[in-house]
Amino acid sequence: MTDTTEPEIRKGLAGVTVDYTAVSKVNPDTNSLLYRGYPVQELAATQPFEAVAYLLWNGELPTAEQLARLRATERAHRVLQADVKAAIDLLPVSSHPMDEVRTAVSVIGARETAGIDNVMDAVGTPEENLARSIRLFAELPAIVAYGQRRRRGQDVVGPRDDLDYAANFLWMTFGEELDDVVVDAFNQSLILYAEHSFNASTFTARVITSTLSDLFSAVVGAIGALKGPLHGGANEAVLHIFDEIGDAANVGPWLDQALAEKRKIMGFGHRVYKRGDSRVPTMKAALDTLVAHYDRPDVAALYDELESEFVARKGIYPNLDYPSGPAYKLIGFDTLTFTPLFVVARVTGWTAHIMEQQASNALIRPLSAYNGPDERHIAGYVADAAAIAAAERAEEAAS
Ligand code: COA
Repeated sequence: MTDTTEPEIRKGLAGVTVDYTAVSKVNPDTNSLLYRGYPVQELAATQPFEAVAYLLWNGELPTAEQLARLRATERAHRVLQADVKAAIDLLPVSSHPMDEVRTAVSVIGARETAGIDNVMDAVGTPEENLARSIRLFAELPAIVAYGQRRRRGQDVVGPRDDLDYAANFLWMTFGEELDDVVVDAFNQSLILYAEHSFNASTFTARVITSTLSDLFSAVVGAIGALKGPLHGGANEAVLHIFDEIGDAANVGPWLDQALAEKRKIMGFGHRVYKRGDSRVPTMKAALDTLVAHYDRPDVAALYDELESEFVARKGIYPNLDYPSGPAYKLIGFDTLTFTPLFVVARVTGWTAHIMEQQASNALIRPLSAYNGPDERHIAGYVADAAAIAAAERAEEAAS
């Protein structure tokens, strides 16, 4: 007897809980985000990004000795490696920097797992994967910094051992030391972007990991997921919108037209938070600091006007990408570099989830409900050799 009950389809897995995680807790009701139990706002206000990376990987904040050890390893792997540079240089300068970063991580993965000739060993031990995560975390700023410099026709800037992670990242990008308030705003943005439970890219990383593939393959897949404007690409898209609008005075008419065309306004809305994103107030405060530092009240005016108009009309609130886009622009990053900055931050969360998935793995493989043609048979399909040859000749003649 045929089963005629319709399966329940949860399109986009909306509202589906697929597993436990101890890495972070997103609570839309209380508008809070905890990394291993700590409110993200407290971490952003007090910690260097390296300490938050340690927390995500290990479950606890580091002691002074543990932080010093992590920093020593991280500093030892900051240089832009020759294999990665060569691979990036093969790509057109006009390629999207997310494609550069994705390619670079693929190269690092091939290097890191070279010599493993049995696919069963690719997954690695927990110790190996923690060490791989730290090295990947250490190498990424050089890649993103080089991407932006290459597009500007500038040379590589080598790392500085006397600077912490965020300050060195800015140094390698701009070749100058930026003011402490700027470094602090940037450090906070990295912490806010580091982790957000089962978002699309993290889930992608977990799916890949669940097949017992290696950590780098999972990160490459996650980068692909993050590139999309419904996910990480939104921070770049926010700046395109700001450029289109130009001035706070144009917000009203611009929004009238955008809504009439049923456009999605990038930087607003969230799958989980429906009454505002818990990370926005901290990032908005960092943006305000940068606005004051660079004396750019015009940026704040456009930001405030678009937010208040859009919230008033649609009741949809900004997400983290809304304040981070203009903040990165003020610091001096090119708009195209924004989503790669998100990669550098989120690689900590991705790798923490990859290790968590490895520690308690089950292959992730959902079901689908078929809605294609009913069963049919090949005997009904007539492959006429003479007719195909005639069609091919006609095609050749036409081309
Ligand atoms: N601009 C305009 N309308 C929006 C919107 C936005 N940014 N975000 C949601 N909506 C509307 C949708 O058009 C939809 O309206 P409808 O019911 O009339 O069709 C409704 O709100 C629900 O949106 P939907 O896209 O189905 O919700 P979701 O939970 O799947 O989407 C996002 C969440 C993030 C994909 C969505 O809000 C979005 O596309 N935002 C812009 C991209 C962005 O900033 N991404 C970064 C996320 S951190």
